[in-house]
Amino acid sequence: MLEDGEIVSRTVDERDTQTTPADLLAFEPSYERLGRAALIDEDDSERAREIADAILESDLPVETVLNKASKVKGETRVRDWELLAGEDTEVVHREYGCEFVLDLAEVYFSPRLATERHRVATKVDAGEHAFDMFAGVGPFVVPFANHGAECVGVDINADAIDYLRENARRNGVEDRVTAINDDVHDVATDYEGWADRIVMNLPHSADEFLEAAVTLAGDDCVLHYYDIQHEDDPFGPGERAILCGRRARV
Ligand SMILES: C[S@@+](CC[C@H](N)C(=O)[O-])C[C@H]1O[C@@H](n2cnc3c(N)ncnc32)[C@H](O)[C@@H]1O
Repeated sequence: MLEDGEIVSRTVDERDTQTTPADLLAFEPSYERLGRAALIDEDDSERAREIADAILESDLPVETVLNKASKVKGETRVRDWELLAGEDTEVVHREYGCEFVLDLAEVYFSPRLATERHRVATKVDAGEHAFDMFAGVGPFVVPFANHGAECVGVDINADAIDYLRENARRNGVEDRVTAINDDVHDVATDYEGWADRIVMNLPHSADEFLEAAVTLAGDDCVLHYYDIQHEDDPFGPGERAILCGRRARV
C-alpha cells in the first residue's frame, strides 16, 4: 500500500523498434539465419541484391548474405553459394547449447533439422554407443556426446570430418567422439555389433546402407532413419526397406 508517496506522471522516450528487412522492402523476403549469415534462395539476381542490401541495412545481426546457387549435389550433398555480402562462407552456428563452425561451401548443413536433432539427443543415455553413419559436421554426434554417449561419426567428406573434430573440441566432448573420414560401407565391419543407436540421415539413399546398419547394430539398437517420400505414403518405403534390409520397390 502506498501511503505517503506521491504519484507523478511523465512522458518517457519512445521505444525504438528494430528495423526488419521487410520494413525496407515492399515485400516480405524469405531467408534463413545461420549464425551471422542470412541464407536466401532467389533466382532473380536483382531481387537477390535488393534483399541482401535490406538485410544488411536492417537491425539483424547479420554480416554475410549467401544465395543458394544450386541444389545439394553428389555424394557430399554440398551446394554452390553466391556470396552477396561478407568475407566468406564459414559460419558459427549455435543449436540447443552446442556451437558448430562449418563452411557452407565445403560441407552439408541445414538448421531446419535442429528440433529433430534435439528431440533425438534428449533420448540418449550416458554410456550408450551411438553411431552416426553420415555425420557431417557433428550436429547429432556432438549433442549425443554431451549427453554422455560414446560416439562414432563417419563421413565421406574430409572437410566435414575436420569440422566434426573441431566441433567436438569446441564443445568439450572430444574424448567421447571418434571421427572417421571414409565410406561407411568400409567402416561398418570394424564396429560390428557395437551400436546401441544408429543415425542414418541420408534421405533418398539411406536404404542402400541398411546392410551396413545391420552389421553395426548391437542386440538392442535404435535406428533413426530419415527419408523423403511422397505424402501419399511417407513412411511405407522406408519401413519396407528396413524390414527387407534391401531397396524397397515402390
Ligand atoms: C544429408 S548430409 C547429413 C549430415 C549431418 N548428419 C547433418 O544432419 O547435418 C549426409 C552426409 O553423408 C555423407 N555421406 C554420403 N555418402 C556417404 C558414405 N558412403 N559414407 C559416409 N558418409 C557419406 C555426406 O558427405 C554428407 O555429409
